[in-house]
Amino acid sequence: MVLDGTLPSSLDRAVRALAAGELVAFPTETVYGLGADAGSDAAVRKIFAAKGRPADHPLIVHVADATGVAEFAASIPPFAQRLMDAFWPGPLTLILPRRPGMATAAAAGQDSVGVRCPAHPVAHALLLACRNALPPVLGLAGPSANQFGRISPTTAQHVQAEFGDGLLVLDGGPCSVGIESSIVDCTRDAPVLLRPGVLTRDSIEQACGQRLGAVDGQAPRASGTLETHYAPKAKLRLMDARALQTALDLLGSEAAHIATYSRAILRSRSSQVLRRRMPDDAIETARQLFGVLRDFDAQGVRLIWVEIPPPGPEWEGVRDRLQRASAG
Ligand code: TXA
Ligand code: MG
Repeated sequence: MVLDGTLPSSLDRAVRALAAGELVAFPTETVYGLGADAGSDAAVRKIFAAKGRPADHPLIVHVADATGVAEFAASIPPFAQRLMDAFWPGPLTLILPRRPGMATAAAAGQDSVGVRCPAHPVAHALLLACRNALPPVLGLAGPSANQFGRISPTTAQHVQAEFGDGLLVLDGGPCSVGIESSIVDCTRDAPVLLRPGVLTRDSIEQACGQRLGAVDGQAPRASGTLETHYAPKAKLRLMDARALQTALDLLGSEAAHIATYSRAILRSRSSQVLRRRMPDDAIETARQLFGVLRDFDAQGVRLIWVEIPPPGPEWEGVRDRLQRASAG
């Protein structure tokens, strides 16, 4: 059931459900999350079951503000504190050493925990109301509200399409960022970017005053870093603009079930080929990307041909999601 997340009555209902160990989907500025009381291992296990997610893939814990981190993290290195100061609330997740006994199921048995303070007003109001409940719900474990391996939802309707009407969904409108948070591992001497988002490497390094280390075998597991994540049902291929036009030129005038997403303006002999323009701007492309892919799926498209995004650093998150979507 979808409820208007801006209404106090909806928030009340969501808090009661969460306190009772139920799942509630909620909007964040990045993508919608599938929330459960992070302090209840039984509630968190419902997330893994609903998503079909392997139990060894840890979940992020969402907190109302930076003071909430101390509940879940054993320690906060100075560079992590600087990242929180710079980017919270916002699209950044930090992996920190976990406080023993806290968020055990959410952390999937690892001795670290992912924490994030989202900027969306509905998420913030929900997290605050949870913390003020009696007994308090100190954090919400919340992966993206999609079936395992599928594209993250950026509207309440996407969430409903993934889980049906039985799930309580707080509607906070379309997500403004549109791709998942940047994840920085802060459990070692140097920060490591495990999953790029809309924050550039440069801005992360500037904010924490340290260079980002390389991802290596020691890095904690992140399921968002599996090759075939974020896949639409249709087969997605990345090509440069010329290869894309050549591919279109080879199609007959009756060709169907094919879509393109490109900055270049393309010609097609078949009027049935769906053509969507990719914005020139990385932020705007991130915002619409998952919705565009879902629209293509909904229209029965079987092949999606996407123009490779520009090489600039601000495009890293979009490039990453498209590469994964094409790896399936
Ligand atoms: O923007 C986002 O981060 C969204 C919204 C809802 O907050 N959440 C999200 O969650 O994308 P999820 O579960 O779909 O992706 C979180 C990623 C996963 O790849 C998970 O493996 C990784 O974070 N992660 C979480 N805790 C971790 C930990 N302790 N160590 C390593 N990776 C962790
Ligand atoms: Mg996910």
